Amino acid sequence: MKFTLPLLTVAGLGLSTTVSALPSFAGKSFDEVARGLDLNSDRPEIKAFVKRAEEIRNGGPIYPRAQRGDRDITALINPATFKFNDEEQSIDLTSDEHKFIAPGPNDIRGPCPGLNLLANHGYLDRSGVTTLTQGIDAINKVFGVGPDLALALNAYAVIFNGNILDGTWSIGGPYKSKSLGSLTNLLFGDPAGINAHNVYEGDASIVRQDLYDPASGGNNVDLHMPFYEELLADGGNNSQDGVDVFTPEVMLKHKSARWHYSVANNPRFFQSAFGGLVVTTAAERFVTEFAANNTADAEGYNRIYLDEKNLHAFFGIYKENGKLVYKRGQERLIPGWKRRPLASSFSLVDIALTLLAAARTDPSLLSFGGNTGTVNSFAGLDVGDLSGGVFNLAGLLKDPQELLCFLYQAGIEELVPTQLNVLYKSLGQVTSYLSDNLKAPWSKAANSGDNPCRPFDQNKKINILDAYKKFPGAKGVPGV
Ligand SMILES: *[C@@H]1O[C@H](CO)[C@@H](O)[C@H](O)[C@H]1NC(C)=O
Ligand SMILES: *[C@@H]1O[C@H](CO)[C@@H](O)[C@H](O)[C@H]1NC(C)=O
Repeated sequence: MKFTLPLLTVAGLGLSTTVSALPSFAGKSFDEVARGLDLNSDRPEIKAFVKRAEEIRNGGPIYPRAQRGDRDITALINPATFKFNDEEQSIDLTSDEHKFIAPGPNDIRGPCPGLNLLANHGYLDRSGVTTLTQGIDAINKVFGVGPDLALALNAYAVIFNGNILDGTWSIGGPYKSKSLGSLTNLLFGDPAGINAHNVYEGDASIVRQDLYDPASGGNNVDLHMPFYEELLADGGNNSQDGVDVFTPEVMLKHKSARWHYSVANNPRFFQSAFGGLVVTTAAERFVTEFAANNTADAEGYNRIYLDEKNLHAFFGIYKENGKLVYKRGQERLIPGWKRRPLASSFSLVDIALTLLAAARTDPSLLSFGGNTGTVNSFAGLDVGDLSGGVFNLAGLLKDPQELLCFLYQAGIEELVPTQLNVLYKSLGQVTSYLSDNLKAPWSKAANSGDNPCRPFDQNKKINILDAYKKFPGAKGVPGV
């Protein structure tokens, strides 16, 4: 039997791409997806980011009062600056291909509501095993995730939770890669899926419990109703349709409460640089941006809002006899729901502003580190120690470009290459996959403007994985 290696690279998009056939579940060719991927630095959101960063460095607000729309915390390209376009913003949720179907007994679902619903609507393969290209296509088309963020998220999932040989990854637990064979020659085990703790899945998430919280019984996948009810209460228990209840501010407040709850209840609470800081902090923002419905305001401009009805659907909550019931894996979108305009996609640079705003709301949210074995023992890792003095926390808090650069250096450049040793038997292929698909989008965003992103001082820095080792909750981080 002969195996082909469908190695995907997104480097040099629009110029030459090395692409061979991808065993695509959705019938989407890589070229089709790649055409929509534009990583160039003259993208409007990058330009807006460079300009905003300059303003912030000069003491300006992270999110200046929006000129249009209800929300003050907006994406760099504010959806409200576009006329509502019903056709462009409509998503097929009713055809046989895309109607809601609850997962079958063999379908994989996991801790991320957005991914679960994409599978329930057939935008990801309904089995719950998807691919790099299908994942990029789905989160862009349905949620309006920008190309660089879509690529970065999917590539991380493939490298850490999937199989680079066929570009597959799972939205929940382990799976057998369909194009096995050569896989066993490359990976040390089966691909683990995003359930794997401390890779994507992390502590203090929106409505899931922590894996090591004694109260969770090891369940970090299912929705925890008390956390969900807290979120509803943060929104004032407002169940009126069409109102922007779950704003970015409300989600940040909730995130802050979840963080302190974990510190106070989970002796092994741990927040890693990527899965913790970038993913779980940004995830609160993802909800308010991606679950939101969109409509026209009085003047025909786009109005983005997240009301309780749409929040329920997104989190798999059903109202039965007046009671809220969680149905595991049955997250959905309500037919007639409209996504944000694609021109106001939410991108990697928006993550930097999100984290900065989070830190200004509650500085704890920008720390990484963990409890040291007892509750309320949180010890944060020092940015200066980690980087060998190249960065410091005060600097990160003043400048979103500096922050994005630090996250890139810590989360990708420093950590990932050392972690691959643990997952992959041979590094050749995964190294080029990594630089083309994961480093590329990060490095373009981190180096935007005339602002080269400085690496850590290799002689003075401390090793991040070694620093993680003092936290008992860091178990699961590859290499710890
Ligand atoms: C929201 O409802 C809960 C009961 O589910 C109640 O305990 C809480 O006080 C309410 N909060 C607000 C702000 O109305
Ligand atoms: C979403 O907004 C549209 C108007 O743009 C409206 O027709 C639809 O009913 C809303 N859907 C949901 C699920 O809120």
